[in-house]
This record gives sequence, structure tokens and C-alpha cells, in this order.
Amino acid sequence: MKFFADTADIDDIKELADAGLLDGVTTNPSLIKKSGRDIIEVTKEICGITDGPVSAEVVATEHAEMMREAEVLRKIADNIAIKVPLTKDGLKTCKALTGDGTMVNVTLCFSANQALLAAKAGASFISPFVGRHDDVGYPGMELITDIRIIYDNYDFATEILVASVRNPIHIHDSAKLGADVMTAPPEVIWKMFNHPLTDKGLAAFLKDWESTGQKIG
Ligand code: E4P
Repeated sequence: MKFFADTADIDDIKELADAGLLDGVTTNPSLIKKSGRDIIEVTKEICGITDGPVSAEVVATEHAEMMREAEVLRKIADNIAIKVPLTKDGLKTCKALTGDGTMVNVTLCFSANQALLAAKAGASFISPFVGRHDDVGYPGMELITDIRIIYDNYDFATEILVASVRNPIHIHDSAKLGADVMTAPPEVIWKMFNHPLTDKGLAAFLKDWESTGQKIG
């Protein structure tokens, strides 16, 4: 499963890349706002850190204007994936862009039927929002199970990109269910390291080592 960083924070993205944990990046208008930077400038810098797909989202709601914005965004770098919302205009834009060979990430997916529509429109990625689903009392991961079954039934090439990831259990379940990609805030990825037995075991090894009085090298 590929790991995308769900952030526009350059330092956080670099840290994941240095640890070999970065296969791509996803941004959205809220993350760009949080970065406090110009969308073109910060997205260009991100594209210089990873060769993997970097999602940049259009903010227009009508097809023609989405296409105009996509044209601006895709000029940033070759690894840009244009993010469009799961609406009629969004899917028309998806179809037109993927026909041209541009990667498209269809976002704000909350049902398996929506994911089916996106696959038929040729989406490169579908982004089901599991955390926001959990928030309203629906088990978000059930959506991933259903989309995996549907995509496998028909051999759709669209990659399932689990989004709105809030905790390491979401990542564990995404991998178990065969999601192609998950995108998470860096702090959630770092939490995957945590295990009390690792901490306890390391402390015991270091204590025993210290009592030997030895040094390596
Ligand atoms: C990523 O592509 C999505 O925009 C993001 O994961 C949404 O996450 P949130 O629900 O935590 O805002």
C-alpha cells in the first residue's frame, strides 16, 4: 500500500521522504489555507520533494472553469494529480483530463455508488473519506470493503486512496482490505511506530548493555 502525506507542510513532507515513507502527497483548499502559502508556490515545492503523485484541488464548481483551473495546476509539474469533487461537473472534468493523460483524484466520496461513477469516468484515484464517515456514525471502513469488491469485480484500474484518515487503526484496516493508497496527516503515520513493548524491550537492552561497560567501536 502506498503512503501519501495529507499535508502542505514542507518540513513534515521532507521528514517522511527521508524515512522512506512518502509515495505521494495530497492537498486540499483547507490544507493550503493552513500552510499560509500561495497554492502554486507551495505545490511546486512539494512536487520537487517527491516524484509520486501530488494532488492539487480545483475550487471551481462548473466544468469549464474546472478545466481552466486544472490547466493552471497541471503546468506546475509532471506529477500533479488534479483533484475534482464527486459531482457531475467534477466527473465530466475527470473524463476530459484523464483522456488527455492527466492523473485525476476524485475527492469527497462517501458511497460505493459514487466510487463506481468515478471509476467509469476514468479516475486515477478515488478518495473515500473514512474519518468523516465515522464522525456521522457510519463505519467508514465498510466503504473501503465495498469499493474493493466492486472494483475487483470489473477490474477497474482506479486506485482506492483512503482519505480522511484519523488514526493508525484506519491505516491497518486499509492495508488489510487491500486499499491501493492511504493518505494521512504525518502525525498519524508517526504514531504507527508506537508500541509499549518496543519501548520496554529497548529500555531493558540498554540497561543490560550499560552494565557490561562495553562500547561498540
Ligand atoms: C485528502 O485528500 C482529503 O482532502 C483529506 O484526507 C480530508 O481529511 P479530513 O476529513 O481530516 O479533513
